[in-house]
Amino acid sequence: MCGIVGFVGTEPAAPIMIEGLRRLEYRGYDSAGVVVIDGGRLKLAKTKGYVEALSKIIDGGEKLPGCVGIGHTRWATHGQPTDENAHPHISDGGKIAVVHNGIIENYARLREFLISKGFTFRSETDTEVAVNLIQFFYNDGGGLLKAVASAARRMEGSYALGILCEDFPDMLIATKKESPLVLGIGDGCNYLASDVAAILSHTRDVYKIDDDELAVLTAGEIKLYSSELDEITKTPEHVDWDLSAAEKGGYEHFMIKEIMEQPEAVRKTVSPRIIDGKAVLDELDIPDEYIRGLSRIYVVGCGTAFYVGAAAKYNLEKLTRIPTEAVMASEFRYSSPIVDASTLVICISQSGSTADTIAAMREAKRLGAKVLSVVNVMGSVIAEESDWTMYTWAGPEICVASTKAYSTQLAVTYLIALRFAEARGTIGGAEYAAIVEELKALPEKMQTLLTRRENIQYLASLYYNRKDVFFIGRNVDYAASLEGSLKLKEISYIHSEAYAAGELKHGPIALIEQGTLVIAVATYGRLIDKTVSNAVEVKSRGALILGIAAESGAETIARVADNVITIPDVHELLLPSLAVVPLQLFAYYVALAGGREIDKPRNLAKSVTVE
Ligand code: F6R
Repeated sequence: MCGIVGFVGTEPAAPIMIEGLRRLEYRGYDSAGVVVIDGGRLKLAKTKGYVEALSKIIDGGEKLPGCVGIGHTRWATHGQPTDENAHPHISDGGKIAVVHNGIIENYARLREFLISKGFTFRSETDTEVAVNLIQFFYNDGGGLLKAVASAARRMEGSYALGILCEDFPDMLIATKKESPLVLGIGDGCNYLASDVAAILSHTRDVYKIDDDELAVLTAGEIKLYSSELDEITKTPEHVDWDLSAAEKGGYEHFMIKEIMEQPEAVRKTVSPRIIDGKAVLDELDIPDEYIRGLSRIYVVGCGTAFYVGAAAKYNLEKLTRIPTEAVMASEFRYSSPIVDASTLVICISQSGSTADTIAAMREAKRLGAKVLSVVNVMGSVIAEESDWTMYTWAGPEICVASTKAYSTQLAVTYLIALRFAEARGTIGGAEYAAIVEELKALPEKMQTLLTRRENIQYLASLYYNRKDVFFIGRNVDYAASLEGSLKLKEISYIHSEAYAAGELKHGPIALIEQGTLVIAVATYGRLIDKTVSNAVEVKSRGALILGIAAESGAETIARVADNVITIPDVHELLLPSLAVVPLQLFAYYVALAGGREIDKPRNLAKSVTVE
C-alpha cells in the first residue's frame, strides 16, 4: 500500500524523507519519489522501483536541499508503475505538489471537468486530479487551505494528502478521509506520515487527525482545522510501540492486521464500481454480445484463489446461468480443457505471478478462450497478458496466508456476475438491486463480525490443541469450509480437511472419534437442516461441534453445536464473504495459542513462481 512521509523544519528534508520511506518499504510498493521546496521552487525526484534507486538519483538527499518536503512510496492502482505515475504529482502550472494514499472514486468525472477548464494531465493517476483540483480552487484566490478544503469536499473515495506549495515555502498541509495519517510533533520541526513507523525514530508524540480535518504544519507548530476551517485543538498521543509493532499498525501480526483491513479493502474494491445502483465495470469493456454468447466459464487459481473460484461458481452460475467450473490452475493446464471462443477463463491471483496460474492462462488463450483476470498486483504477468483485468484494491498482502485478497477477489466475482447477468437478462431488477445493496453493506457487516473477535479467541483457546479438525458445509458453505480449512492447516499445522457435508457418509465419517472437532458451516438457510443432520451424525460418534450460522439460523444449529459463532444475515450468495471472517480469525487465534510463526508459516512462500 502507498506510504507518505513529510517533514518541515530547519534541516534538509530529503534525507529524512528517504529514511522514512525506507521504514515504509515493508508495506510493498513499486515506485518512490520526493519533492522539496528549495529557494522558493519545487524540486522533484521520482522513479519506478525502490527507495534505493531514488536515493541514488538524489545522492541520499544531497542533491535536493530544502527544509520542507514530502515523499511517497506508490503501490499502483490507477495506472502502471512508471516514472510518470509515481508520486509526488505537481499541478499544471507547477506550483503545488501532492502525495496521496487512497483511491479517488470520482476521479474520471473530476478529470474531465478539469480538462474542460484547460488543465493538462501528464499521468494516468487519480492523484494528479487531486493536485489539479487544489490548483483550480487556489486560482480563485481564497488561499491554499481553503483550496484544499474545497477540493476535499469534491473528492469521493479515500485519501490522505500531503501538500506543498511554492507560495508557502515553510509550510505543509495535510488532510485525510478514510486513509490513515498521523502528524508527528518534533522539536523545532514537524512530520506527517501515513504510518507512524515512518517517523518513529524522530518522535513518539503524534496527533491523529480524523476524517475531513485539515492540518497546517510549520517548523514551529501544527494547527488543526475542521472541514469548515474552524481551528480545533487536540491532545497529542504518545506512541510506545516498538518499530515492529508500528509496522503492523499496533497488531501482533500482519495476518490479524490484514484480517482487520478487510472491510476497507472490500469497500475500496467495490464502491467505485457501483454507480447509481449498477455494477459498472468500465475497465472491462466487454461487449454484451460476447457475454450473451458465452457457453462456459472456468474459474482458475491456486490455493485460496482457487477457493474463491469454488465460491464464485455458485454466484456466477446462479446469476448468469452459464455453466461454471472452478479448477485448480495446476490441473487445468494439463487437462486438455474443453475450451473455445465461447469459453471465458477467469484467472484469480493476488500476486499475478503464480506459475501454474500463468500457465493455465496461456493455455486457455492458446485454445482460443478469452481470459479475464482478477489480480491485486498491478503490472504483474497475469494482469498484463489477460484480455481483461479487474484489480482488487486490497493493497499489499504481507502475511503469507491470504485473507484480504480472498475477500476482495470474491467481491469482484459478485460484480462480474451482476454485470454478466444483466447483459444476459438472467436477473430480475429486484434481485439485482438487493444484491447491490447487500454488496454496499458488506464492509459494515464484516466490521461487525470483527468486533466480536474476542469470542473467537476464546473458542480458539478451547480447541487449539486438536490433532484433526474437519470442516463441513453445503453449497456456498462448502466453499467457505474449503478456505477455512486451508487457513487453519497452513498457519496452525493442525491436520484439517473440508468436506461437502453430504459426502460425509460416503467415507470421511470413519475418521470421527471422541473429541474430534467438526466445524459445521451452516449459514446457507435453504440447506441448514441438512447440514444440521450431518452435524448430529458426527456428534453421535463423539465429535465436538463448532457451528457457524447466520443470525436467523443460529437457533437451529445451537440445538446440536457445542458452540456457535453467528454472522449477520446477508443475501445467500454473499454468505461466504462473511462466513470466512470467523474462520480466518479462528485459524489465527488457534495458531497464536499454539505459538506458531503466523506470518511466515513453515515451508510456504508468498508467491509461488515455480511449478
Ligand atoms: C493461502 C495462500 C495461497 C495462495 C496461492 C495463490 O493462504 O495464500 O494458497 O492463495 O499461492 O497465490 P496467488 O493468489 O498470488 O496466485
